[in-house]
Amino acid sequence: MDIKKAAVIGGGTMGNGICHVFAMNEITIHLVEMNQELANKAVATIDQNLDRMVTKEKIDESKKEETLDRIITFTDTAEAVAKVDLVVEAVPENFELKKKVFAEVDQAALDKTILATNTSSISITKLAATTSRPGQFIGMHFFNPVPVMKLVEVVRGLDTNEETVNTITETARLLDKNPVEVADYPGFVSNRVLMPMINEAIYCIYEGVAEPQDVDQVMKLGMAHPMGPLRLADFIGLDVCLDILNVLHDGFKDPKYRPCPLLVKMVDAGKLGDKTGEGFYEH
Ligand code: 3HC
Repeated sequence: MDIKKAAVIGGGTMGNGICHVFAMNEITIHLVEMNQELANKAVATIDQNLDRMVTKEKIDESKKEETLDRIITFTDTAEAVAKVDLVVEAVPENFELKKKVFAEVDQAALDKTILATNTSSISITKLAATTSRPGQFIGMHFFNPVPVMKLVEVVRGLDTNEETVNTITETARLLDKNPVEVADYPGFVSNRVLMPMINEAIYCIYEGVAEPQDVDQVMKLGMAHPMGPLRLADFIGLDVCLDILNVLHDGFKDPKYRPCPLLVKMVDAGKLGDKTGEGFYEH
């Protein structure tokens, strides 16, 4: 199936990035937010990120305008998903919230519509089972900043059918991303590998091995990472890192995923990284 029209539920950091790449690649987008103010804010962010690309001469002004013209905002989920080929959910990482969103989407969408979630850690199989179409349900996991990062982790739930996997893999390629198919286990591959590294970097601070900037320098200069793990943790959000570590810890029952007590304390204190202005660094 060719995806010509898609709805994205949620216009936050991931949601607006996903709208950006779909619209830039000729797919009409229905962007759904809780109210018009949030929808306008999401479009303003996309506008700014497209401007960056114009400044860097990656796209011209007319491509920017065409992209923005392909984005239509909605505050009513049922109306937004009624006639689309694909729905990508990008609301906060909360199972009950996602389940509620998918109940509405499942009822309003056409039978042929594929349902995808951008979840970074919630089980695809468990979410799929709350809908009437587990065969057409899949994980489409993007990375922040979405317009820049080349990966889409395509997560196959227990019942996801072959046609859905093929359509999402082809769609990711059309977005100029590299799809990698993985099975549905806690953290998939990306966060199962990334989060223990971030957690270990936090243990280095907790145990007084080094200062945050020194841990980050080691990983940047010694391992050629574009950002050190603590800078990256601030960028992702310390609450998100903690949630994902908890999913790994609960899912595998293995103490190697135990979140560092310092991470728990920082989240308790509301020091969540870039979004609150303070984490391992001041922003
Ligand atoms: N939209 C469009 N373009 C953007 C952008 C955005 N939101 N953000 C950055 N860019 C572009 C810049 O314009 C620049 O373009 P250029 O290469 O043509 O000059 C390029 O990206 C690099 O940006 P900057 O020059 O501003 O800054 P840096 O060189 O420091 O790069 C970075 C910034 C791309 C964020 C880089 O530091 C990086 O790759 N960091 C690692 C990010 C990462 O690991 N993300 C994954 C997080 S995990 C995740 O998302 C999964 C979840 O489940 C937790």
